[in-house]
Amino acid sequence: MELIDGKKISSDIKKEIAAEVAEMLANGKKQPHLAAVLVGHDGGSETYVAAKVKACEECGFKSTLIRFEDDVTEEELLATVDKLNNDADIDGFIVQLPLPKHISEQKVIEAIDYRKDVDGFHPINVGRMSIGLPCFVSATPAGIVELLRRYNIDTKGANCVVLGRSNIVGKPVASLMMQKGNPGNATVTVCHSATKNIKEICREADIIIAALGSPEFVKEDMVKEGAVIVDVGTTRVPSTLTKSGWKLKGDVDFENVAPKCSYITPVPGGVGPMTIVSLMKNTLLAAKKVIY
Ligand code: GUN
Repeated sequence: MELIDGKKISSDIKKEIAAEVAEMLANGKKQPHLAAVLVGHDGGSETYVAAKVKACEECGFKSTLIRFEDDVTEEELLATVDKLNNDADIDGFIVQLPLPKHISEQKVIEAIDYRKDVDGFHPINVGRMSIGLPCFVSATPAGIVELLRRYNIDTKGANCVVLGRSNIVGKPVASLMMQKGNPGNATVTVCHSATKNIKEICREADIIIAALGSPEFVKEDMVKEGAVIVDVGTTRVPSTLTKSGWKLKGDVDFENVAPKCSYITPVPGGVGPMTIVSLMKNTLLAAKKVIY
């Protein structure tokens, strides 16, 4: 069994990006600039946005954090999106989700100029991705595919089972895995809450991508000997062992599943760091203005 080290790969990629940024600056180009909009004080969102700002520093990007309280109106938020769309210094920006209930996330996502949509959530980017056109691919699916690429995992003709059908992970990663290309060319099955015999389907999988948000859902008896497991789960569970009082749990029963696998991603340190670095790659793409 080999552990897929997302921390190491993400650190390598950040260095690659920083080298490219240094070259851009040496050639008189503008410093890439990412803005993040954060509404409220959700613990998870605070942590993710802080990590994104730190990653910008490591990559040599400029970053701007725009904060609002929970009671911001949809109009105020849409006005900020409009301002960022029209700010020539901002190459790309994200609005951290989830948003408070009184704001339509879809309306906000669709208000973002798709050329600055480094999250890849705008329907134009989602549509382009699904037909294999140049676009911003959302960060978690892009990070998963990059891990498979860097570990030279052969996906051609593989049975790939995706657990979960979210717009952010399940649907796009299924789409990427079945596309012509490498990684890609897999035979993909997407399982969700209405799927019958998930266990049997998983047992046939050469690759399982678990993205349901259900801690330790994937058990030893669901996994074929030699399978590749990508664990996207990051549920916070109470813990007496950490200062924060919680720890992250994946969707895979790691302890019992890992010995059966050829490759497996840990939680934390697997997909998580790759998500952030994929956002950085998208920001670099945005700065180079190659998606239009
Ligand atoms: N909330 C959870 N993941 C993400 C993400 O990748 N982007 C944004 N904007 N919000 C999120």
